[in-house]
Formats: sequence, C-alpha cells, structure tokens
Amino acid sequence: METLFYNVGGGHDNQMIGRAAHIIMRGGLVAFPTETVYGLGCNAYDGEAALRVFKAKGRPADNPLIVHVAEPHDAYAFAEPTPMYDKLAERFMPGPLTVVLPKKEIIPDEVTAGNDTVAVRCPSDPTAHALIKSAGCPIAAPSANRSGSPSPTTADHVFDDLDGRIDMILDGGPCTIGLESTVIKLDGENCTILRPGAITKEMLEEVCGTVSVAKAVIDPSAVKDGNVPSPGMKYKHYAPRAEVVLVSADREKFLAYVSETASSGDAVMCAEEDMPAVRSDLICLPMGHADRPEEASQRLYAALRTADDRRAAHVFVRKPGTDGVELAMYNRLIRAAECKITEI
Ligand code: TXA
Ligand code: MG
Repeated sequence: METLFYNVGGGHDNQMIGRAAHIIMRGGLVAFPTETVYGLGCNAYDGEAALRVFKAKGRPADNPLIVHVAEPHDAYAFAEPTPMYDKLAERFMPGPLTVVLPKKEIIPDEVTAGNDTVAVRCPSDPTAHALIKSAGCPIAAPSANRSGSPSPTTADHVFDDLDGRIDMILDGGPCTIGLESTVIKLDGENCTILRPGAITKEMLEEVCGTVSVAKAVIDPSAVKDGNVPSPGMKYKHYAPRAEVVLVSADREKFLAYVSETASSGDAVMCAEEDMPAVRSDLICLPMGHADRPEEASQRLYAALRTADDRRAAHVFVRKPGTDGVELAMYNRLIRAAECKITEI
C-alpha cells in the first residue's frame, strides 16, 4: 500500500484534514500528531478498521486502544462518565489525560480488546482536534509505532515504522510533551494511575483528593509477574534495540561510571551542562537542562531512536526520580531497561 505523507502546518490545512477524515470514514488508517506522541487513528465505531490498526502495528490483540474525542462531552455517546470525569475534564481536557470508563455497546470489542471499559482522551493538538471534528466520529488510536519500539514523537518516526502499512501520515511537527498521556481508572470517586504522564499525581490530587498509583507503575517485580490492571503494562515497551543501562547515582557519579565502563560507540543520555564531561568516543544524547525534567521527557524517545540509528550497543541513562513529571520517565525507562537497575 502507498502511504500518503502530508505536512499540515499546525492543523490549518483544511483540505488535507478533509482528505484524512475521509480515509477514516471509509475504514482506513491515518497517523496524526497529538501533544503527547503520534497516534495511528481509525473510526472507533468500526471493528474491522481497529483490527487493521492491530495488524499494522503488530500489536498484541489483548491490548485495548484509546478512543479520542473532539470535546470531553462527546464521551457520553459511547461511555458512561461519572461526575468525577466531568470535574477532571473541566480541569485537564483538552490535554494529556486518558480516563478509563465503563463502555456502551456501540464501541466494538475489537477496540477495547473485549474489556467492558473504554479509555477516553481529548487531545489538545490542533491537528488532532481538527481531524476528529472533521471525521465526525471518535477516533481509536494507539501510538503510531511498530509494537515494542519507542513511541513516535515526529512524523519521520512514524514513516520509519509504518510506511507502506497505513493510508496516510499527517506531519504536524514534533510533539511538545513527548511521553504518552497519563491513564487513570475511576472507581466512583477513587482515582488510580495506570500509566503516569504529564498530568501528574500531584495535579490529579488537587481535583480527586487521594490518588493511588498502580503497583506495576513503579515496581519492576509487579511488571514481571504480569499481574497488571492495564494490559499495556505487561509488554516490553518503549525499548530500542540497544541495551538500556539504567544507573542509580547522582550526576557526578553517573558520569564517572560511564567514563569507566562504556565501550567506544556506546550512547549516553546527559544533561546539557554535563556534555563536556562525556568521552569523545561516545554518542552524547543531550536531554535538556538538568533541572527541567520536562525537557528530558520530550526528548526521550527520539534519543532512544538516535542510539539505534547510530548502532550503539548500550545506552547509559541516569535513573530519574519518582515525583512529579519524573515518574513518567521512570516508568518508561524501567521497561526499556527490562527492569534492571545498576546501583552505584
Ligand atoms: O498519549 C497517548 O495516550 C497516545 C496518543 C496517541 O493519544 N496513545 C497511546 O496509546 O499511548 P497506546 O495504545 O500506545 O497506549 C494505551 C494504553 C495501554 O497501556 C493500554 O493498555 C491502556 O492505555 N488502555 C487502553 N484501554 C484501556 C482499558 N479499557 N483499561 C485499561 N487500560 C487501557
Ligand atoms: Mg503505545
């Protein structure tokens, strides 16, 4: 299949958006930008189209898709929102928050992988918004990568993974957040984080009171047991071909450890301030300023892909903390490192 590739210039190219919407309405697959990562979209009411999404990605059939809406209220057509959903929507939508709710029959089993719940997200990216509005239906979309590889944060990443396997790629530039949305489950008023993201536990607590974090988010052994509340947690996710060496140390000790143990051609993620301390025979992956974790989050997946493009055998990364936005980085990195942490 030929994959059409278009630059939409921020969601204002109505003709291209119209063409993409038409492909979605006819059961086709369109990759589009969101503020988190690129998504691979299809009509959420079309089970056959959802199966094509699983096939294009090579995604395990038991991992459900997120359904994207143009307005938070649109979720009422296919889910059963609670009052807490409305409160959260008012505060955080459109934006990088996904809420798991009881589903209505109109959503096919192919989309939810047979679950009786459906995940709802209202993206803030203007291209994503225009596409969903123009298609006139909710859009089911996982991240637009081949299953198991790092999520795409540029249209070129999507092209590398899915050219020839999908109908169209809309290029809206690099994603501003760079890590997938926060996924939460609501049980009445109780809120549990299934996947951490840019909407942090601390932010959710301002609306929900106490917020719990599913054990598998931070505990590597829970990941290995496979006993997880969200199917996506049990897969080896976010992983490049290079071996990720996750090192628990302060910045100085981390740099010393890398200098002593890395082989020529290995890659190292480091703060911009620390770049001069990296050996010249290593691939240096700059991750923004040391005190701005959101810059590192935005660059993480592109950095992992660069390490692979440059055939690094190892990528050294300093283990992030588990508060605020760092929890999302931590959660992705322990999976990329297959739960191994090197303590210094
Ligand atoms: O930021 C994002 O969320 C991106 C963009 C494209 O919106 N999408 C994304 O989708 O990351 P995906 O499919 O790569 O990840 C969806 C996650 C998976 O971990 C999946 O298991 C979980 O959401 N999920 C989806 N439906 C669920 C449900 N009904 N119950 C529990 N977890 C669910
Ligand atoms: Mg994904």
